[in-house]
Amino acid sequence: MQHVLSSSSNLFDYIGAILMGFLLYILALFLTIVIGILSIDFLIYCKKKIYKNQSNNNTIKNLPDFKALKPYTLLFIHVLQSSFILDELLTQAKRTKIFTILPKTKSQHTNQLYLHVELVQDTRSILVLIEYNYDYERNSRYHHQLVLFFSILFDSSKTIQTWGDCKEQLDIGASFLLFTHGELSKIQFLNLQQNFKHWYNDTFPHKIQCPQYLKYNTSDSKSCSCSHRPYKSKSSQWSLLQALLYTFNENLTTSMFDIQKCLAITKLGHIVRENWSIEQLNKYKINRYIYHE
Ligand SMILES: *[C@@H]1O[C@H](CO)[C@@H](O)[C@H](O)[C@H]1NC(C)=O
Ligand SMILES: *[C@@H]1O[C@H](CO)[C@@H](O)[C@H](O)[C@H]1NC(C)=O
Ligand SMILES: *[C@@H]1O[C@H](CO)[C@@H](O)[C@H](O)[C@H]1NC(C)=O
Ligand SMILES: *[C@@H]1O[C@H](CO)[C@@H](O)[C@H](O)[C@H]1NC(C)=O
Ligand SMILES: *[C@@H]1O[C@H](CO)[C@@H](O)[C@H](O)[C@H]1NC(C)=O
Ligand SMILES: *[C@@H]1O[C@H](CO)[C@@H](O)[C@H](O)[C@H]1NC(C)=O
Ligand SMILES: [Zn+2]
Repeated sequence: MQHVLSSSSNLFDYIGAILMGFLLYILALFLTIVIGILSIDFLIYCKKKIYKNQSNNNTIKNLPDFKALKPYTLLFIHVLQSSFILDELLTQAKRTKIFTILPKTKSQHTNQLYLHVELVQDTRSILVLIEYNYDYERNSRYHHQLVLFFSILFDSSKTIQTWGDCKEQLDIGASFLLFTHGELSKIQFLNLQQNFKHWYNDTFPHKIQCPQYLKYNTSDSKSCSCSHRPYKSKSSQWSLLQALLYTFNENLTTSMFDIQKCLAITKLGHIVRENWSIEQLNKYKINRYIYHE
């Protein structure tokens, strides 16, 4: 009897020890998680502090590289591209409402057309790099597919955003019979260079100390002393590079330059269309700094 009792109490001790160990284990796990969360919060807090310090300093060294607002896919379009891909491009173009166009001028003397067209969709975009040679490809199926593509693109239901006026640069496409001069003249391009200027002007007004502010005059002028307004004449236009520097503190790197330029127009177009406030912009920049550096 004695023997049986003692062995059953041993068993209880044993189970108790296991339970205790298990509880300690859970507690340790819990503490680890709490400490983990707290230290991540602390890290984010520190990074925010450093970021604020740096941006107050007005000379952020080693500017971050440009980053597109949304993920994107590159699609190279040329005469050797499979007709399956070309058909898919037409399907995607039909579903898309907003396009960004960046014509390239470097080959105007030859019978070549280089054009970047970004299909801006809700969650991502497709960046199409088009290459076309009028001498060799004008009678091909490829030419016909491009004609279809441009007829979808240049429809009045689509929004086509550009940086500056690029009708003249697109004229070359009309002379290659990819679309007509009539179609081109009817397009209502959304010139973001102008819209950006208005948005920037409204969002970043003159400082109180600025003579232009004292004159109750919000336009740009030679007398303006604001460092955040680099252009001092009413008629000057923002370059894409300056717009990115002053809005996002981002620099364009030389590699993949034209691809980045196209994505940059799309990014600026988004914030201008959504009329971002300074608070929205700062939130974006802080998050970008914390999570992408
Ligand atoms: C922020 O800048 C001030 C000087 O302007 C400096 O004393 C302080 O240590 C800086 N803080 C951080 C977190 O870098
Ligand atoms: C401000 O920037 C200058 C030049 O980049 C640097 O030498 C200085 O330490 C910075 N000051 C702060 C407070 O970060
Ligand atoms: C800036 O905005 C003000 C008011 O919104 C407008 O009167 C002024 O003409 C604008 N200046 C430029 C250069 O767009
Ligand atoms: C604002 O300033 C600009 C440049 O100095 C000037 O051309 C314009 O007439 C001024 N507008 C008003 C309303 O004073
Ligand atoms: C931007 O990058 C280029 C080259 O990639 C560099 O020469 C230039 O100094 C950078 N600009 C700034 C403001 O950091
Ligand atoms: C953009 O938002 C500001 C307020 O944040 C407002 O004053 C301004 O009229 C808006 N602009 C447009 C074009 O909706
Ligand atoms: Zn000013």
